[in-house]
Amino acid sequence: MSDKKATLTYDGKTIELDSLTGTENETGLDITKLRAETGLITLDPAYGNTGSCTSDITFIDGGKGILRYRGYAIEELCEKSDFLETAFLVLYGHLPNSEEKETFKTGVNDAAGMPSDIIGHLNAFPKDAPPMATLSSLISVLAAHNTDDLGVAYEGESFTKPLYTIMAQVLELAAGQYRVNIGKTPNTYNPELSYAANFMHLMFSEPGQPYEVLPAVEKAMDLFLILHADHEQNCSTSTVRIVGSSQSNLFSSVSAGIGALWGPLHGGANCEVIKMLNSIYNDGIAPSDFVAKAKDKSTGVKLMGFGHRVYKNFDPRAKVLKVQVDNVLEALNIDDPLMGIAKELEEMARSDSYFVDRNLYPNVDFYSGILLKALNIPIDMFTVLFAIGRIPGWIANYRELHTQGQRIGRPRQIYTGSALRDYVDLENR
Ligand code: ACO
Repeated sequence: MSDKKATLTYDGKTIELDSLTGTENETGLDITKLRAETGLITLDPAYGNTGSCTSDITFIDGGKGILRYRGYAIEELCEKSDFLETAFLVLYGHLPNSEEKETFKTGVNDAAGMPSDIIGHLNAFPKDAPPMATLSSLISVLAAHNTDDLGVAYEGESFTKPLYTIMAQVLELAAGQYRVNIGKTPNTYNPELSYAANFMHLMFSEPGQPYEVLPAVEKAMDLFLILHADHEQNCSTSTVRIVGSSQSNLFSSVSAGIGALWGPLHGGANCEVIKMLNSIYNDGIAPSDFVAKAKDKSTGVKLMGFGHRVYKNFDPRAKVLKVQVDNVLEALNIDDPLMGIAKELEEMARSDSYFVDRNLYPNVDFYSGILLKALNIPIDMFTVLFAIGRIPGWIANYRELHTQGQRIGRPRQIYTGSALRDYVDLENR
C-alpha cells in the first residue's frame, strides 16, 4: 500500500480510496471496498483499466517495450536460458540451481507416456479437427485419467504431479494427434532430448528413422517457447485464473486457457498472419493495396500480427523473433518470399500515419508463423505451439492465485435489460 490516497465524491458523499504501487512504480487504486461503502461498482468492459490481481511473475512496460519474467529481461533469457529452466523460473520465481534443474527435467521426463487409452481418443476425433479443439479436449481428458490429482495444490507432489503430467504429455498429445490424423503412429517421448527437440522428434521421427534435430532448429523452437512462456494478465491467462479461482483443477483450468488462446485476436493470430501472407503472395496482391485495405474499416480486414493492447511502442518478442527468423532461414537455406512480404508490410505500416498514430506495431505473431513454417510445423498447429509455450505461465498464475488465497473471481455488471414485466401467453405474442 502507498501513503497516497484518492478521494471520490459521488452524490454528496466523499470516500478515500487507498492506492498501491508496484515494483516498477505502476500505481493502482484499491476499489475493493467501493461497493460496500458507496453502492457503486466500476465499469470497464474488456478490462482495459482493471487490475485483477497483484502478481510477482511477469512485468511488461508497454510504452518502453519491456518484458521480464521474474525480473529477468526476455532478451537475456532467450540468449542464455532454455525453455525448461525458464519454465522453472516462471513457476517458482528463481533460476534453478543444478539440482533443482535436474529434478525439474527428470520430473517432466518421468511424467511422459500418455495413458494408452488416450490413443483411442486421438483416433476418435475427425481427421480434420482443428488442433486447438483437440488439444483443449485432450487436456481435459487428462483430468479423467488422473483423478487423484484434481485437488487444488501449489506445492509438494500434489502440485508437481499434475504440473509434470501436463508439461510432458502436452507434447505427446499435440504431436500424437498430428500423426494419427495423417495415418501414422504416435512416437514415444525421448528423455535424452531437450524439451524443444522432443517436440520435433515426436512430430517427425519415423520408425527406424529418428528425426535429426539440427541445432538451429532446436534453438529456434526453444526460443519460440521461451518467448511465449508468460505474458501477465492477457485473455487466456485471465481465463485460467478465473477458472482456477473456483478451485477447479489444473487440467480444466489449462484446458480453458487453450480455448481462450485459440481466437484470432489472441494466439490464433499466428495462423492468421501466415494465411494473410500466403494470400498476398498467391493472389499477387501488392502489399500497399493490402495495407490500404487494412486501414479501411468497411473491409473488415486487419493487418494481422499488428497491434497490441499493452505494447504501444514495440513488442520485444517480435524484435527477437525477426532476427531469429532470418537466422533460421539462412541456416536451413530457405528463401521464403513471405519473409520479404512481411518486412515490406512492416516498413509500410511503420511509416503510415494510420498505424503510427494508433501505435500499431508488429506483435509476437507477426514473424513467429514464418519461423514455424520454416520448421515444417503445419499452419493449423501454430497456435498449439503457442499454447505449449504458455503452459508454464498459465500454471504459474494458477499457483500464484492459490498462494494468494484469492476469492472466486466474479465480476459485476450494470444491467440494461427490461424492467420487470408480465409473462405473455404463447397465443398473445
Ligand atoms: N490492423 C488495422 N487496424 C488495427 C489493427 C490491425 N491489426 N489493430 C488495431 N487496429 C485499429 C483499430 O481498428 C482501432 O482503430 P480506431 O481507433 O480508429 O477505432 C485502433 O487500431 C485501436 O485498436 P483496438 O482494436 O481498439 O485495440 P485493442 O487493444 O482492443 O486490440 C488487438 C488489440 C486485438 C491485438 C488488435 O490490435 C488486433 O486485432 N490485432 C490483430 C490481431 C492480432 O495480431 N492479435 C494478436 C495479438 S498478440 C497476442 O495476443 C499474442
